Amino acid sequence: MAEATIDTVTSVPVAVVGAGPAGLMLAHRLGRAGVGTVVVDTRTRHGISTTQRAGILEADAARDLVETGVSDRVLREGHEHEGIELRFGGRPHRIDFKDLVGASVWLYPQTDVFTDLADARDRDGGTVLYGIRDTEVLDVTTDAPRVRCTAPDGTRHEIRARYVVGADGSRSMCRDLVPEERRVRYGKEYPFAWFGIMAEAPPSAAELVYAHSEHGFALISRRTDRVQRMYFQCAPDESVDAWPDDRIWETLQARVAGEDGFRLTEGPVLERTVLRFRSFVQEPMRWGSLALAGDAAHTVPPTGARGLNLALHDAKVLAHVLLRALGGEGDTALDDYQPRALRRIWRAQNFSSWMTRLLHTEPGGTPFDLRRRLGELENVAGTRAGRTYLAEQYTGWPTGA
Ligand code: DHB
Repeated sequence: MAEATIDTVTSVPVAVVGAGPAGLMLAHRLGRAGVGTVVVDTRTRHGISTTQRAGILEADAARDLVETGVSDRVLREGHEHEGIELRFGGRPHRIDFKDLVGASVWLYPQTDVFTDLADARDRDGGTVLYGIRDTEVLDVTTDAPRVRCTAPDGTRHEIRARYVVGADGSRSMCRDLVPEERRVRYGKEYPFAWFGIMAEAPPSAAELVYAHSEHGFALISRRTDRVQRMYFQCAPDESVDAWPDDRIWETLQARVAGEDGFRLTEGPVLERTVLRFRSFVQEPMRWGSLALAGDAAHTVPPTGARGLNLALHDAKVLAHVLLRALGGEGDTALDDYQPRALRRIWRAQNFSSWMTRLLHTEPGGTPFDLRRRLGELENVAGTRAGRTYLAEQYTGWPTGA
């Protein structure tokens, strides 16, 4: 492959592999500072913009979208949420973020964040090659790394850069460029997955509902006034074909049922997907002229919606150190990336894993496990200290930049 004919050679300071939120936000931040990038992604623009992902932005991340000039659409079309509801023991328990920690979050789906970032690249004249194949990242241990790929029209591109950023998601090929004997991979698998649906129905609740029941976890989120996003815990090998609408609604209703008579408003299921997840971190996040960002370096279970926020935070810290590196400081500036990004990453790893274990039921769990978990939920929701802990973690941590 390396010997194949190259049709186009481009030179830019930074080549970015992956056009998700981490890659595009990084390109946007660098572009604002006058630093050129080429971003490449194997997926099509349509493919990325229609893949459902999480929906919660920390207030700082929403503000960054506005203040860095990506778009102010989040303020117009997003919804500010000042709390969430935990449901367990058949009762609702509100976690009031505003009252507890003076913070809020924004319900604004990742698909919208992507659309805003992709539109901003178009508007600002940034280059993004979607739908590419045969990607190669070469010479990352030199100061002249290159990315080669084939565009959808069959032309072979070479992007010569000073730095390459691997923002190529949870199945990253870039992270494999850190030699096996020089990297550590930390991870944890979970014995359950999420069954995610989009349903055509009016909202069932004003705020997000995180429900724990003896039957397992469910999350009631929303998208628009007419379309809702919901999830329920399922087996990792569950097949969507085994789930007609009736069975989905019966399962969701049983998980949110309670003495207050709460019921979800049902409607046709438009989309169904089984989402497998794990906890994962690779260190180091930088190898020579390569830096990893977002899911390529770390993934979290979806409970608490930290993944997108972490990706945007990586982009913020990395843009900052890349500008210093390119501005004359050289590679030593990049030494600051991992420590600044990693502190928040491990806090998020802890929170995501904790919230997952708090709300799900383990297959094969004993009656002791179930009752102990209810005790923990009472300790969290029933004390101001517990609610404050959850509110602080959910609404995010100070930036490391
Ligand atoms: C959504 C997803 C999450 O994982 C979460 O914790 C909250 C909301 C969502 O898709 O809306």
